[in-house]
Amino acid sequence: MTKLSVNINKVATLRNARGGDVPNVVKVALDCERFGAEGITVHPRPDERHIRKSDVYDLKPLLKTEFNIEGYPAPEFIDLVLKVKPHQVTLVPDSPVQLTSNSGWDTKLNYDFLTEILETCNNAGIRTSVFVSADAEMIEYAAKAGADRVELYTEPYATAYEKNPEAAVAPFIAAANIARSLGLGINAGHDLSLLNLNFFYKNIPWIEEVSIGHALISDALYLGLEKTIQEYKNCLR
Ligand code: PXP
Repeated sequence: MTKLSVNINKVATLRNARGGDVPNVVKVALDCERFGAEGITVHPRPDERHIRKSDVYDLKPLLKTEFNIEGYPAPEFIDLVLKVKPHQVTLVPDSPVQLTSNSGWDTKLNYDFLTEILETCNNAGIRTSVFVSADAEMIEYAAKAGADRVELYTEPYATAYEKNPEAAVAPFIAAANIARSLGLGINAGHDLSLLNLNFFYKNIPWIEEVSIGHALISDALYLGLEKTIQEYKNCLR
């Protein structure tokens, strides 16, 4: 079964626009779970422009599903992760000023750095995932560095999907096969949507988790959160 993890950063962005507590990030996360999400993802950044550190601490004792914290593994981020001990940490190579993550790791270039961070997280009993492009060498080095899983960066798939779905998904099938042969679990995320998710899933049904934020929260404006989550889950069947 492929789990749907809802990335709630956009909910925090909306809350932060007014400075108060509407919408309440914890309530939305718990409602996502109630409506069928199998996980919650947050991406705290150093400037706290979306999710704040305090949100991460507030969420941890209340979530009943998988908690995934993603972000750039700066010392402050790793400190937060080790204190909170989520089910999974996803290492993302985004700089603090970046609007959103727009590439996977160069796991070869950052091999020593990633190996050390992965060992720290693994020793703390936290499952690790490394955000990578659909690139055999990057996946091989993620495995060598000690990752439990890779998260495939699906923005190129989403962009190419509209023109040619088969061609768009082909490199991801190859990448997922390589990851599987190396014993890595496979997650996926970025720009997955109601339009492109089912085709991705049908071609790589052994994916363990998709994490989806932007499109899902946008769809919820029209469909409501409960129906939206059900629709995304329907794409994973
Ligand atoms: N996975 C990672 C590593 C991300 O950085 C993001 C965006 O924060 C997502 C998944 C979710 O992407 P989207 O918001 O496009 O669904």
